[in-house]
Amino acid sequence: MSQKICVVGTGYVGLIASVGLADFGNTVTGVDLNEDKINKLKEGISPIYEPGVEDYLRRNLDSGRLKFTTGIDYAIKDSTVVFIAVGTPENDNGEANLSYVESVVNSIADNLNDYKVIVTKSTVPVGTNRWIYELLKEKTGHENFDVVSNPEFLREGRATQDFFHPDRTVLGCESEKAKEIMFNVYRSLNLISVPFVWCNLETAELIKYASNAFLATKITFINEIANLAEAVGADIHQISKSMGMDGRISPKFLHPGPGYGGSCFPKDTKAVAMFGKKYGVTMNLIESVIDTNDKQKARMVEKLKTSIGDIKGKTIAVLGLAFKQQTDDIRETPALTIVDEILKAGGKVQAHDPKAMDNFAKIFPDIMYCHTAYDAAKNADAVVIVTEWNEYRGLDLIKLKHAMKGNFILDTRNLLDPEIVVARGFIYEGVGRK
Ligand code: UGA
Repeated sequence: MSQKICVVGTGYVGLIASVGLADFGNTVTGVDLNEDKINKLKEGISPIYEPGVEDYLRRNLDSGRLKFTTGIDYAIKDSTVVFIAVGTPENDNGEANLSYVESVVNSIADNLNDYKVIVTKSTVPVGTNRWIYELLKEKTGHENFDVVSNPEFLREGRATQDFFHPDRTVLGCESEKAKEIMFNVYRSLNLISVPFVWCNLETAELIKYASNAFLATKITFINEIANLAEAVGADIHQISKSMGMDGRISPKFLHPGPGYGGSCFPKDTKAVAMFGKKYGVTMNLIESVIDTNDKQKARMVEKLKTSIGDIKGKTIAVLGLAFKQQTDDIRETPALTIVDEILKAGGKVQAHDPKAMDNFAKIFPDIMYCHTAYDAAKNADAVVIVTEWNEYRGLDLIKLKHAMKGNFILDTRNLLDPEIVVARGFIYEGVGRK
């Protein structure tokens, strides 16, 4: 049986959940305080760049199963399942800021007119779901509700595929009544045999952090081996490929690069380190991953300096500003460190990115933003590829060389074939290979 759902927060997580849950046949109301955003969504316009999302948005708006509103009170009253999908940004001390979550919980308490399942989709520190339960109990004076932890594992840029074909669905759920309702919410996934992991609240919360921390560790590991490969004259691609052939290791997340970024890995690894401190458990490995990843970002500029010498007065074309391809998200992107270091060293930056220039310009308004990669390369002493956009894989090297003053390419994602690049008259530097 489909369910009446309200999703509070129409940011990245909330938007995908709203369209996805409606597509499963549920009746969904997406709620946000931001009126502009809600008006756009009502018209079928996505406030974020995410491939495929607008098709799902329009399809479900047309079907009448999906609505958007700023009226949180009625939306909660009218639903059986309330998803919390608001942001949990980092405070200055690195802790997750739960004030948005708390404000939603207050609204739920005010509108708990009947039994409801409160589902947390936002990534929240271990213990938060139990805190939500206690807060609701205290505010309402009853326990006619259940709290479920349902972390998401979506990747930006592939969020719709990930929503409809997840590797697993994790449900921290401690009541049979809520279990039955959540099973109905996700019935479509059960039909395609997606495994459901039923566990307690803390386990679900920690599964999310452990998964992200593990992937961040895997990337950091291969980056460290790449740096060693460079020093000994080995080829990281053959190493990654061969390691990945071992079923126990798997080839995924073994691509070396300028360090991981985004809104999740940096925040979640720091959160795990903080939980360790809070509960008196040593977290040496995660702390080292955080530190090593920061150094990897800075290392890219060191590589540039080693190859072209003093950056002062030189023009550097930076290709790619987003933290990865298929997104306009620049949170913790290696490009922030790289551009900052180039500017500090007295260099000039000419940047290009297919999607993320507007966002980057909010932080670095004074660098030059260019329409194409070739415009960015105009009179540049060096080109640095930072994001793995497909269009950079197919760069016309002759045109690029023509535009440039110098001939150095730092390919931090190993997108190009070094032999071809060198044959076109460039000096090439990748990560973990000669
Ligand atoms: C990550 C997780 O992959 C999702 O499962 C999770 O739901 C999400 O965080 C979240 O917690 O919300 P995302 O941040 O969108 O997703 O991006 P990833 O595709 O995981 O990439 C993260 C960073 O690692 C990027 O900077 C990427 O370029 C880098 N990366 C990834 C590498 O450097 N090498 C790799 O082999 C893979």
